[in-house]
Amino acid sequence: MSRADLDEFVEQVRAQSDLVQVVSSYVALKRKGGRYWGCCPFHQEKTASFSVVPDKGFFYCFGCHAGGNVFKFISLMENVSYFDAIKLQAEKLGIPVPQRRQSPEEQKREQKRKDLRKVNEMAKDFFHNCLTMTRYGEQGKAYLAGRGITSETIEEFQLGFAPNAWDKLCSAFRKRGVRQEYLLAAGLASERQQGEGIYDRFRNRVIIPIADERGRVVAFGGRVLDDGMPKYLNSPETELFNKRRLLFGLDRAHRAIQQEGYAIVVEGYMDAISVFGAGVQNVVASLGTAFTPEHTKLLMRYARRIYFCYDSDDAGQNATIRALAVVRNSGAEVHVIVVPDGKDPDEFIRKHGKEAFQELVKQALPLVEYRLRYVLSHVRYDTLEGKVRALREMLPVLSGIRDGAELGEYRKRLAQTLMLDEGIIMDELRRYARNPLPEEPAAAGKQNFRAAAKKQDNALLRAGRIVLRTIWQDPGILAHVQAVLPDGFPSEVQQEILTYLANCIEKGESLNDIHAVESLGEAASTELSQALVEDSGEQEASVVYEDAIRILRKAYLNSLYMRHSRQSEEYLAAGDPAYRESLREANRIKKEMDEL
Ligand code: GTP
Ligand code: MN
Repeated sequence: MSRADLDEFVEQVRAQSDLVQVVSSYVALKRKGGRYWGCCPFHQEKTASFSVVPDKGFFYCFGCHAGGNVFKFISLMENVSYFDAIKLQAEKLGIPVPQRRQSPEEQKREQKRKDLRKVNEMAKDFFHNCLTMTRYGEQGKAYLAGRGITSETIEEFQLGFAPNAWDKLCSAFRKRGVRQEYLLAAGLASERQQGEGIYDRFRNRVIIPIADERGRVVAFGGRVLDDGMPKYLNSPETELFNKRRLLFGLDRAHRAIQQEGYAIVVEGYMDAISVFGAGVQNVVASLGTAFTPEHTKLLMRYARRIYFCYDSDDAGQNATIRALAVVRNSGAEVHVIVVPDGKDPDEFIRKHGKEAFQELVKQALPLVEYRLRYVLSHVRYDTLEGKVRALREMLPVLSGIRDGAELGEYRKRLAQTLMLDEGIIMDELRRYARNPLPEEPAAAGKQNFRAAAKKQDNALLRAGRIVLRTIWQDPGILAHVQAVLPDGFPSEVQQEILTYLANCIEKGESLNDIHAVESLGEAASTELSQALVEDSGEQEASVVYEDAIRILRKAYLNSLYMRHSRQSEEYLAAGDPAYRESLREANRIKKEMDEL
């Protein structure tokens, strides 16, 4: 490549790059005068001191003094060299990068890749023609029609069909002079176990071409028409095809991703095809592997926001949790779209349409919120061990929150839900920041928990005694207690006393300590004595009673909240729409707790 070629190339990329558009895919910009303003992506700030001057083609931050042209911006954002930034941008714009002179080995490898691409391209056409123009394709067509896939979508994705035979592709390609070794290398054929020769890898399947970011076909996926196994058969990994670095649909989706400012990631390519076909175009699928850091980088070239929309079954939820862990520290802003009724995105959008799907997108949960709900619904946190586990699972997520107010909010919520002191959560967060590795919380942390749980217990017991004493002194209050605490007291011993008192009061008997001691068990009568001799100190009795009731009511609501959120989780897993009612109830309870 000559100097002149290089200059021309760089100039071409520069001319086609729109600085405002590039910056907007990372930073929210607002126009003011001839400039655009936003919060600087290179340092932490709350007021916008980062500005872009489109006429001049420059950006500059008045806070941290970072500045430069569009390539400088990309190189800073992507953490790549200036020249790599130019190449990245060229790839995005589809401008071919001039090649430097290659060694003979490099040339040979490059030639092989070219040949493989050619073979893949031919195979794509072969499968597509089989589907659309031959009688072999009838079954495939019927299958796709049954899934609501239109002929426009078939054309858009160049879907195809592999005939139900052992050598249709091999023999067609032999006639066209394609050497066997290429069919083997491209993963389109396999060698016979017995005897000579090769046979077609894909047979009697609907074929989905898998393209790289630039739209070049690098592999195929094939789906059976019935319940046969395996449901999907993919090309093996080849020199061109690396699942960890490829997102299905990105070649078609990237423009929409850039425009919308976010990408939707689904689990299956059929989901991506269906969602795209319904008119939501910023969608990609990972290819039957977990979401990888490479996938994250690929997407973040186009937008900072990633929305995961995995299946609502357990496997999908677990995959979501793993994906969240992968992207957590990438700087991406992550949301989770929850698909109701146990459906996958394909089934949902087909049944309810584009608008309903977009409504789901609007209601997507931020990463932390999703994680919190997941932990709270999967961990039984009504025991000390459960609290330890729940907090431990939340620490990595909480420590990733940069916004102080937001962190405070979640910390408070977690403290309330787990009934722990907020200070303990802060301590554990600090400990985690220093040393994120230990699986178990520090011994001191565990001590803290024990102490906190104990304290919590003591507070409930004390409150219970105050309420018992109040009833003893003023039996008329019993109705109020029963109304506010439908489950009574959490302590069994205190509950025994309450039942006894209620019995007496209902029968119209006056309360008498000797009678009580005789009727109650050992532990209960001791507890009652303590309740009656403890005093409320200086405070007004009614204030003391109100406080005690509030503490007990909160504990009651908390257990109710746990019951409802678990229930809604179970409904959701079973695909029962009743989950909505449970969730609404859980949220109502939570609101009351917050207001107490
Ligand atoms: P449909 O039943 O066609 O709607 O499938 P789906 O899109 O709901 O896919 P599913 O959730 O079953 O799987 C998601 C992705 O996992 C698929 O797109 C494949 O990439 C991968 N996958 C699923 N089953 C298999 C399999 O049997 N073999 C391989 N190699 N991959 C599979
Ligand atoms: Mn499906």
